[in-house]
Amino acid sequence: MKKYYITTPIYYVNDIPHIGHAYTTIAADTLARWHRLHGRAVFFLTGTDEHGQKIFDSAKAKNRQPKECCDEIVENFRNTWKKLLISNDYFVRTTDPAHEEAVKHFLSVLHEKEFIYKASYKGLYCPQCENFLTESELVDCKCPNHLTKPEEKMEENYFFRLSGFREKLIEIISDSSNPLHFEIMPEGRKNEILGKLKVGLEDISISRATMPWGIPIPFDNTQTTYVWIDALLNYISAAGYPDTRSGFSELWPADLHLLAKDILWFHTVIWPALLLAAELPLPKKIFAHGYFTINGKKMSKTIGNVITPDEMIGNFGVDASRYLLLSAFPFGTDGDFSMAAMKEKYNSELANNLGNLASRVISMLARYNGKKIPPAAAPNEINYSADLEQVAMLFEKLEFSRITDILQKVTGSANKYIDDRAPWQLAKQQKQDELKTVLSNLCEVLWVIAHYIYPFMPVTAQNMMEQLGQEIKIENSPYFMDKKIEINYKADTNSSGAIFPRLK
Ligand code: MSP
Repeated sequence: MKKYYITTPIYYVNDIPHIGHAYTTIAADTLARWHRLHGRAVFFLTGTDEHGQKIFDSAKAKNRQPKECCDEIVENFRNTWKKLLISNDYFVRTTDPAHEEAVKHFLSVLHEKEFIYKASYKGLYCPQCENFLTESELVDCKCPNHLTKPEEKMEENYFFRLSGFREKLIEIISDSSNPLHFEIMPEGRKNEILGKLKVGLEDISISRATMPWGIPIPFDNTQTTYVWIDALLNYISAAGYPDTRSGFSELWPADLHLLAKDILWFHTVIWPALLLAAELPLPKKIFAHGYFTINGKKMSKTIGNVITPDEMIGNFGVDASRYLLLSAFPFGTDGDFSMAAMKEKYNSELANNLGNLASRVISMLARYNGKKIPPAAAPNEINYSADLEQVAMLFEKLEFSRITDILQKVTGSANKYIDDRAPWQLAKQQKQDELKTVLSNLCEVLWVIAHYIYPFMPVTAQNMMEQLGQEIKIENSPYFMDKKIEINYKADTNSSGAIFPRLK
């Protein structure tokens, strides 16, 4: 059976992982967990991009082999993802021998099919992007991503006949009934790419004559593969290419490539053209999210304004950091990051709303019902289903912040229900049946919310279930498959402290 195949970009191994990288990876993880909750087999891929000038130069400066350095620094990413509870199924490195073989095989195929030719190339090169830039892409004569001046560079390179795919790509992208159609989301980004394609498309250089740290071109080992071609091929090498039999077809094509807008062109134009040339299926959906900015500037190592996941985790813990990043602003747009705003959001949404609901409910069960959850006798008075019904559609559209808004709304309604029904009054008036109904309704909502927040905050969600005395692991819960709420009423609930202590 075909697995749901979701990818993040492979990150430059010599970067310090920052919350921009974490943003994509947490989004992919949240989505992967959501699909797994529905019983779907998922293959979630992330990894590192390890060739190129920067790594070569930094290894040389340390008088070490580049691979040795990569083996060490790749742990920065692996450890960060472990800390952030990233549940990737595989971690690909472009220095993996299997990846190198896949790249060589792929380029040989393209060479045989005559999609590759040799020519001389002159251009403006940004070493940080590891990419040639056109005049029109420059802002104040500088690279718009790195704010540095590109260098003039000329060399004999191998070229890929990208220009020949222009019309085909326009057709495939704009016509949703085209059998090769893939979606570019959000919609505005698709129009941007189509607009750019309509202006024109040039062949691209796919090799470097002067870069020793790269995968040798299989038909000319005096040249190495251009890092971007090397990097894009990770998505198929990790799926088993060049062996395109059963294992590969269970994974490829990718269902979703997740990335930020800076690398959308590579993924929506160059990547599909390479696949078309090799006669391989195209990915189904490519989603470009926005940037985390600091005072309006993209967070990046070169600009020197990065915030690390460790800083976030130190302030808010792992689960809250995941939640805060994904709920900060709509997934497709840019948003300015400020720790003060994150703290305010933490206190209002997590401590005062969700955390407060959990501790109120658990403590009322201890006070009024011997720590037991009263069985449900009638339909729930808290109207939460209609709101939650939208969540699946919002996951489809990757509208994470609208999902967290809905979860906040449902949590808010449950808190308001406590205020309105005042269980303490019911207890005083000895209205036992009514009191039980109120408590039962609240527990059901808490149980359901735990399921819905699990993809965002897996540890807290499970902790909520434990406080409710429920042994079931949410990841194995059949709730999303059969929509049945199965609460164990015999178990004792227990308060193991606030799930989100208020921050001063
Ligand atoms: N190695 C290439 C990708 C090759 S994929 C075939 C690369 N790596 S990168 O380390 O620069 O990571 C780029 C990705 O990191 C972006 O597409 C995005 O997913 C994430 N982000 C990096 N900085 C970011 C922000 N400031 N904000 C949001 N996401 C950002 O490009």
